[in-house]
Amino acid sequence: MTSQIIPVDPFDCIVFGGTGDLAERKLIPALYQRQRDGQLSEPTRIIGASRSPISNDDYRKFAESAIKEFVKPSEFDQKQVDQFLARVSYVAVDATSDNGWEELKTEIGNDTKRVRAFYLAVSPSLFADISSRLKSYKLVHDHTRIIVEKPIGRDLQSAIALNDTIGHVFHEQQIFRIDHYLGKETVQNLMALRFANALYEPLWNSAHIDHVQITVAESVGLENRAGYYDTAGALRDMVQNHIMQLLCLVAMEPPASMDADAVRDEKLKVLRSLSPITSKNADELTVRGQYRAGASSGGAVKGYIQELEHPSNTETFVAIKAEIANWRWAGVPFYLRTGKRLASRASEIVVSFKPIPHSIFGESAGRVVANQLVIRLQPDEGVKQWMMIKDPGPGGMRLRHVPLDMTFAESFTARSPDAYERLIMDVVRGNQTLFMRRDEVVAAWQWVDPILKAWAETEQPPAGYTAGTWGPSAAIALIERDNRTWHEPE
Ligand code: BG6
Repeated sequence: MTSQIIPVDPFDCIVFGGTGDLAERKLIPALYQRQRDGQLSEPTRIIGASRSPISNDDYRKFAESAIKEFVKPSEFDQKQVDQFLARVSYVAVDATSDNGWEELKTEIGNDTKRVRAFYLAVSPSLFADISSRLKSYKLVHDHTRIIVEKPIGRDLQSAIALNDTIGHVFHEQQIFRIDHYLGKETVQNLMALRFANALYEPLWNSAHIDHVQITVAESVGLENRAGYYDTAGALRDMVQNHIMQLLCLVAMEPPASMDADAVRDEKLKVLRSLSPITSKNADELTVRGQYRAGASSGGAVKGYIQELEHPSNTETFVAIKAEIANWRWAGVPFYLRTGKRLASRASEIVVSFKPIPHSIFGESAGRVVANQLVIRLQPDEGVKQWMMIKDPGPGGMRLRHVPLDMTFAESFTARSPDAYERLIMDVVRGNQTLFMRRDEVVAAWQWVDPILKAWAETEQPPAGYTAGTWGPSAAIALIERDNRTWHEPE
């Protein structure tokens, strides 16, 4: 069975940072895939914009090689690529001066009925310059949208300032703050699982759930992003956005509908219910780590400091024991962890149910393990409900812990679309459900800021961990103190 593709209205997507890493790895390949699936209508256009003085032809070559490199060879179809490239053009524009803006305006034209999406795949330090020039060159009309990538600020104050800057030019309904984790297939499946089935919701609370774990583990290191990463660190790079968004989807109350504000209102309540972590309890509830030399993906790798070539106290790993202080979740710990150069690339949400109150089976039946729902985001996305069953066969009563595999993706679609494919199409449709509202970003920073402050106050450097392991031993102690263990990704 294949999923149904509904074409979207023609649109113009103008990508600032058009020759950059994000455009190359994600945006161009995502738009190509939408072309291949027949979702783009005529006359949709993609306009690359950046400072490099290159021609349209050179940009098309860049786009073609991006598709070659970042799309599977079996999905590279020369006819589709040519049709896609016919939509692509390029304008050299300087965000910080008036150079190129008249040319951009001419290239875009003045069709004010068509959706016009400006994708700011650039450093946030350019957001102010770009948005004010979009306004002064009269490039913003009612159907104009702006897409901004994280990081939205590096703390509460800078996030407020960035939101103000964009908010001076665009209404909130025109602003699409992207968090690509919300576009991942299994993340949305989590909403289907919770709200399209009667089975889980009655159990989804502190009476039946023992704890929740959210792990986003990466095996990669700095990947040529040292300049950005060393000023950010794992808390800002992964927790403030991706992990907190996942936490919201697990913990939120059922929204009245999938309407953008209905969903975002509920997520906001979760963010506002998080118990504060401050210098009083940060030692007990958080662990910072930094990788040292080790082995990863089968080879020897350098430590963070050697990769960076200067000393740094930036964390490449963080583990947090979070609590949501509301009626549904009081007393249920949410253990969060993420890091670079960990043992494998594995992201999952594990919901651990409480053990049965009493076992009627004798010791010979084996241990009765509590139920676990494992939502695997990547790789090998899927959902498994771990249950106890009777070991088949004529012997005595022996119990076995087995997964009920609810991974249906393969039977429905030949290919799991990249998060960016879905999210860009949502921008064109004007659907903000999977995008962060301004107050969510602020609320997330309100929780993260005191943690950053507490860390800044301590003299302690992050705990070292060997590349290729699951992080510092303090992270293991964080959960084992509570007589629980981290779920070992399969
Ligand atoms: C980005 C972070 O937002 O997400 C990166 O800035 C990280 O540091 C990436 O590697 C992970 O995304 P994914 O989709 O590969 O899990």
